[in-house]
Amino acid sequence: MSVDERIVAWLRAAAGPVSGEALARRLGCSRAAVWKRIAGLRRQGYRITAQPAGGYTLAAAPDRLGPAELAPYLSGSWRRIEWRAEVDSTQRVARDLARAGAPEGTAVIAERQTAGRGRLGRSWHSPAGLNLYCSIVLRPVLPPSAVPQVTLVTGAAVAATVEEETGLRPAIKWPNDVLLGGRKVAGILVEMDSEIDRVHHLLVGVGVNLNTPRAGFPPELRRKATSLLVATGRPVHRAAFAGRLLAALEARYGRFSTVGFASVRAEWESYSCLTGTEVSVASPGGEIAGRVLGLDADGALRLRRRGGREVRIVAGEVTVRDGYRD
Ligand code: BTN
Repeated sequence: MSVDERIVAWLRAAAGPVSGEALARRLGCSRAAVWKRIAGLRRQGYRITAQPAGGYTLAAAPDRLGPAELAPYLSGSWRRIEWRAEVDSTQRVARDLARAGAPEGTAVIAERQTAGRGRLGRSWHSPAGLNLYCSIVLRPVLPPSAVPQVTLVTGAAVAATVEEETGLRPAIKWPNDVLLGGRKVAGILVEMDSEIDRVHHLLVGVGVNLNTPRAGFPPELRRKATSLLVATGRPVHRAAFAGRLLAALEARYGRFSTVGFASVRAEWESYSCLTGTEVSVASPGGEIAGRVLGLDADGALRLRRRGGREVRIVAGEVTVRDGYRD
C-alpha cells in the first residue's frame, strides 16, 4: 500500500479521531509531512475533518476501487490490489505485472479502460467510475488444455456474486457470458502465458456492468447489454461488490485447484441457459448444429447432432436457434 492508502486505512479503522502526531509516528515522518499528505488526500476527494486538539477523522471517501477503499470488503487472502485511474486494458497491466513476478491473486482494477478487450477481438465498453474492470493474475499448475475450465470457474463465481448482490438469478451462456433477463451483464476473458505443456500464468479478466444507466450504453449495445443498476433500479456499492467477487473466485479457484473441476461443475450447470436448447456453434473446426446436452466432466459442451451423434465442443461461439437469442 502507498503512504496515502495507509493513512486512509488507519483513519477508516480508527474508532475516533487520529492525531497528527500518531500518524507521523507510524509513518516515521514529521507532522508537517502528515499535513501535506492530508491536504493531498483532500484534493483527491477524501473528506477529512480536523479538530485542533483532537486529530483527523475520515468523514467520506471518493467512490473508487483503490486498495484503501477495498480493504474493508476483502475477506480472502487475495489482498494485493493494483488500482489505476485509467488504463488501456487491465489485461495488459496484469500481464506486465505477472511477467515481473506478481503473486497469485494480484488484482488490477481500473476506473476506466480506453481499450477494454473482449473475446474474439471485440472491445469492452468501459466508462469511468461506474463498473468493475478487473484482471487477476493466477498461477495454476495446469496444462494449457485445462485452462478453459478456469473460465467456467470464474463464470460460476461471477454469477453467484451477481445473484448475491441482486437477488436475481443470472444465466450463463457457455462459455462465459453472464446474463440478466437475457442481456449481458458481465464478460470474462482468460488469457495465458504458457509453454506447450505448462501454464506460466493466467490473466483472468472480468468486466461487470454495475452502475451504467440504460442511456450510458452505446445504441448498438442497448438491446444486448444491461447492468445491475438497470436490472434492479438500485445502484451497487462497487467496493463491496469487488470484495465479494474476489472472495467468491478465490474460494472456487481453491476448490478447483485441489479437487478439480468437478467441485464447480454442478454450480455452473445450475446457471447454464443452454442445456436443452438448439444451438449452432462457430468453432475452429467449422459450424456445428445440435441440441445441448450439458457440460462434460472437463468443461466441454456436449451436443447431440441431428443424426444422433454426440460431439464435444471445447471452444467456439454459440448462437441459440430457439429460445434466447443473441
Ligand atoms: C467478453 O465477454 O468478451 C469478455 C469481456 C472481458 C472484459 C474485461 S474488463 C477487465 C478486463 N480487461 C479487459 O480489457 N478485458 C477484461
